[in-house]
Amino acid sequence: MTNPANRLVFFDTTLRDGEQSPGCSMTTQEKLSMAHALEDLGVDIIEAGFAMASEGDFAAIATITQAIRTPRITSLARAKREDIEMAARALEHADRARIHVFLASSDLHLEYKLKMSREQALIQTGESVRQARALVDDIEFSPEDATRADRDFLVEMVRIAVEAGATTINMPDTVGYSTPEEYGKMFREVRQRIPAIDQQGVILSSHCHDDLGLAVANSLSAVQNGARQVECTINGVGERAGNAALEEIAAALFVRADYYGISTGIKLDKLNPTSQTLAQLITFGPSPNKAIVGANAFAHESGIHQHGMLANPLCYEIMTPESVGASKTNLVLGKHSGRAALRHRIEQLGYTLDREELQHTYYRFVALADRKKNIYDQDLIGLLPQQIRDRKAATYID
Ligand code: KIV
Ligand code: ZN
Repeated sequence: MTNPANRLVFFDTTLRDGEQSPGCSMTTQEKLSMAHALEDLGVDIIEAGFAMASEGDFAAIATITQAIRTPRITSLARAKREDIEMAARALEHADRARIHVFLASSDLHLEYKLKMSREQALIQTGESVRQARALVDDIEFSPEDATRADRDFLVEMVRIAVEAGATTINMPDTVGYSTPEEYGKMFREVRQRIPAIDQQGVILSSHCHDDLGLAVANSLSAVQNGARQVECTINGVGERAGNAALEEIAAALFVRADYYGISTGIKLDKLNPTSQTLAQLITFGPSPNKAIVGANAFAHESGIHQHGMLANPLCYEIMTPESVGASKTNLVLGKHSGRAALRHRIEQLGYTLDREELQHTYYRFVALADRKKNIYDQDLIGLLPQQIRDRKAATYID
């Protein structure tokens, strides 16, 4: 895959890493709907599943390859002959396929999970990448748990994978342990120590989990240090605390284009619709305070903020809701709201108030808001003095 220097590849793993977490399993048809949404969103690569994991995963990958044409489709595979063959079979009908091979790289995983020596792991890396490369020309290799691996060993493993023909090297922070500076440094170091990465145009990729809430920051740090692919999921779903949230990375690169100078194929105004599509397919949606796609991401309740928003939205919003496909700014009326927002809403409802009437209504509103969490339009109308309601009724009769 050719990649201009500042173009970032979005690799979406909602249907694989996301789907394998509690409450997120999807049928083949549901995965297909999600794959269409991801294609509309403009992701470059869809990891559609793990072909060897189940018949359902195999079927979903095969179905997606026949319906989705623009993004490249990939299947995960352990560094084992049978997994790689199964992945290749599931991807048989893809216009553009990738096999994503992974093998543990930390001593902890090698010793306790795989009972494998470092030497064996290096041999298996070379053999599996060569085998996959003989079947498909786009191969990603992931040294799992890279951030806790011995650095010299990690470099050796990556070198062998590159020599064997890997076209993308993904270095996962499998347990969300790393910090932005440390994660970025790992990319810099691996790139410097293996000149073949740049010479052969191998793409470096980040894959971050959110156990410490650092997944997006770590991914962006990798990008600043040479990664040109990010692996992420819609709404940040994924194992345990989840993966880096696609919408947050995409919005950060857009809003801070001055800082990052990175281009992507993501259509920003599809972020919210895609988030909602996923929420309808799995058992939960994003939390209300989730960046970009949460229900409160563009809601303001406090008087000072509402006043600022009415004067100039830039006071408290760094992007418009429309730019990320969210419905317009919501000035929520609650006990922290001020007169400006109250007047604004009442006028939107078609009532006009003079100064004194506004003051009177405001006192009644604050008293109600102290008792009630949500104030609806009907509540507001009920607070208005009778003469104001009569005035509006009279305008209809006239
Ligand atoms: O978190 C991880 O290490 C993974 C790999 C399979 C890439 O999901
Ligand atoms: Zn993962």
